[in-house]
Amino acid sequence: MSEIEFTVSGEKIKAEQGVTILDAMINNGLNVVGHVGCKGGVCGACTCMIRYSGEVKPMLACRTIAQDGMIVSFPKAKVFPVKYNLKEYEFNNGMISELYPEIYNCVCCGMCTKYCTQGIDVRLMIENAKYGDLKKVSDLSFSCISCGACSYACPAKINHAEVGLLARRLSALYEK
Ligand code: SF4
Ligand code: SF4
Ligand code: FES
Repeated sequence: MSEIEFTVSGEKIKAEQGVTILDAMINNGLNVVGHVGCKGGVCGACTCMIRYSGEVKPMLACRTIAQDGMIVSFPKAKVFPVKYNLKEYEFNNGMISELYPEIYNCVCCGMCTKYCTQGIDVRLMIENAKYGDLKKVSDLSFSCISCGACSYACPAKINHAEVGLLARRLSALYEK
């Protein structure tokens, strides 16, 4: 089997053709703490940015086959995690905007949708969050794995994964 060489966080590593980025990292003894959870494409822990073939995009390292010359990095999205206790809130449809007012800074650029590793229309989800439509936000975000790739690209620094999660929690608790 032929060998490839690619770069992870500035370090050049070699791998057999056909292995995933994450397996190549593990085989090379790289520290994957914080970058690995399920190894099955559902936890979002391995989200990375890839520069390859003239493109830069977010991918899941456990589901992406490493390619010769690829450049991989693990940036952190600059978003604000919010702590809340739902029991302390009187339910109302404006709870998303109370807890995540930055949704109104959305400029509708659509980069979150372009970057979503699960094919979710994230821009539309945020649009519905602004109107307090919990059901729509909940439905649209149903397959979100909280990988955070959408937040890498968002100029408004929105924490889309948390917005979707809050809507699903509220829908489960209050919507009939
Ligand atoms: S919406 Fe969820 S699955 Fe899609 S990129 Fe954002 S965090 Fe990841
Ligand atoms: S990336 Fe941010 S600003 Fe752009 S559409 Fe998505 S939520 Fe709005
Ligand atoms: S390790 Fe869970 S999605 Fe990749």
